[in-house]
Amino acid sequence: MKDVILRGAGVTKHFGALKAVTDIDFEARQGEILGIIGPNGAGKTTFLSLINGTLPLTRGAIFFRDEKISGLKPYQIAERGISRTFQIVKPFPGMTVLENVAIGALFGKENIKDAKKAREKTRSILSQVHLEGKEELGVETLNISERKRLELARALAMNPEVLLLDEVMAGLNLTEIESIMELISALNREGRTILVIEHVLKAIMALSHRVIVLHHGEKIAEGDPATVTSDERVISAYLGERYAKTKGKTEELCSKLKD
Ligand SMILES: Nc1ncnc2c1ncn2[C@@H]1O[C@H](COP(=O)(O)OP(=O)(O)OP(=O)(O)O)[C@@H](O)[C@H]1O
Ligand SMILES: [Mg+2]
Repeated sequence: MKDVILRGAGVTKHFGALKAVTDIDFEARQGEILGIIGPNGAGKTTFLSLINGTLPLTRGAIFFRDEKISGLKPYQIAERGISRTFQIVKPFPGMTVLENVAIGALFGKENIKDAKKAREKTRSILSQVHLEGKEELGVETLNISERKRLELARALAMNPEVLLLDEVMAGLNLTEIESIMELISALNREGRTILVIEHVLKAIMALSHRVIVLHHGEKIAEGDPATVTSDERVISAYLGERYAKTKGKTEELCSKLKD
């Protein structure tokens, strides 16, 4: 079995009485794509925020290799090689695409201090995410698909060993989803470990080596995609709800067609 690169024990985050994440033990192995799924409000984004230090833990601990990283500041965690994208993309307004990504290059693992080098690195990342030619545009001019890829580029500019992706496919059409899936696979083939939150089930099941399922802040299942999708608890907590919705819509449509 591959080495464990990221590990959490009893990871917990409560906002007052609201138990967003409770007692999660997890491991991410070097070089794997670990999917994180669960209904809205299950605690997925909070879980990522605990890993990258955006939020402090209520209890528990997170380790990167053998070092405890919970308690460190987000920039310190980024320097060690963990970076993330945000579900709600917030590029720096009034700056160009290139400038937005160059900031990442200045703060990441490589700790590039030279602005010229940061720009060069940035250009190559922008072409990797298919944003070449957009370098000098203001970020406001980008469409949703381009903004998602910019968000990915900003995380990549830190040259992370572990990449945390929060719904990078949300709002994209099928072609755009396929393109970003290819990109994620390519980043994984480069050796990066990737934790990916996604509601687009087909995509996450195809991409992930293993999947963790969260529900009401607790881990209710874990395993390879096939095992997880046939798990009774997962079907009733998450898949069932979605299947039922689709089923309802199909029945409604069928009855309309009959009328
Ligand atoms: N800063 C915060 N303060 C208080 N409550 C919060 C905060 N952040 C998240 N929560 C709550 O914690 C719970 C988990 O939220 P979280 O955003 O982690 O869920 P999620 O699984 O990412 O959901 P979604 O699929 O909708 O993105 C929710 O009930 C949410 O309202
Ligand atoms: Mg979320």
